[in-house]
Amino acid sequence: MFSKKADLSNNPKLDTERIPAHIAIIMDGNGRWAQARHLPRVAGHKQGMQTVKTVTMAASDLGVKVLTLYAFSTENWKRPNDEVSYLMQLPIRFFKTFVPDLVAHNVRVMVMGDISRLPGATQQAVKDAITDTSKCTGMILNFALNYGSRDEIVRAVKSIATEVQTGQLSPNNITEQTVSDHLMSSPLGSLADPDLLIRTSGEERISNFLLWQIAYSEFVFTDTYWPDFDGQALQKAIIEFQGRHRRFGGLKNN
Ligand code: IPE
Ligand code: IPE
Ligand code: MG
Repeated sequence: MFSKKADLSNNPKLDTERIPAHIAIIMDGNGRWAQARHLPRVAGHKQGMQTVKTVTMAASDLGVKVLTLYAFSTENWKRPNDEVSYLMQLPIRFFKTFVPDLVAHNVRVMVMGDISRLPGATQQAVKDAITDTSKCTGMILNFALNYGSRDEIVRAVKSIATEVQTGQLSPNNITEQTVSDHLMSSPLGSLADPDLLIRTSGEERISNFLLWQIAYSEFVFTDTYWPDFDGQALQKAIIEFQGRHRRFGGLKNN
């Protein structure tokens, strides 16, 4: 019997030496997946949670260093109360059933976003998952939870302004690195910027995700709804990434 790991590296088109270090995913299409099955939207979120587990393991097996998943945006509070409540319960269920597997795979949980607005039990589940996996040295599973990039940038600007006001920082010394260091992705250090950004469900927009960090990310859009996404789909996106020429403003061969 082949292990899952062997299955995943089996695709001859995939260059296992050139796996993107940081993959970010806008997990979209849960509601439409459910509606297509005449199910309530929350059934899509439930199935989407299973996909998070599958894709986390697939990414970890492939040697991805950071997997950032957009789970709840600062704009998602606009949804009906019952849907928001369901989404707020999901991290509790997710971590309760999945933290032992994460530890077994040496995966460390981190979070970007203002979790202080989440219900107490959700905050606790998130904090426990961060603590319980804090010694893991493998892939970082980074959830964007109550995250919005404009909110992130406003907070960074406020914090930089305060440092200037108190004399800790001179405006002349503000660099791109200063800005990066004040964003919610700063704990990721040199891995803060995604190499590959994937959005599922056919929508081709950013929806307030990682505006600063995606300056030179490669984008892959797929029509697949998030609950149908899997390890094979992840490999397909990585193969597409591997066919791109990243120039960062320079020329192809320099
Ligand atoms: C993504 O699926 C999950 C979240 C935004 C929380 P959606 O719930 O946006 O699904 P669609 O886009 O309505 O199909
Ligand atoms: C983006 O999806 C947010 C998450 C995936 C968490 P949305 O479904 O909220 O985005 P829009 O409203 O289609 O732009
Ligand atoms: Mg959506």
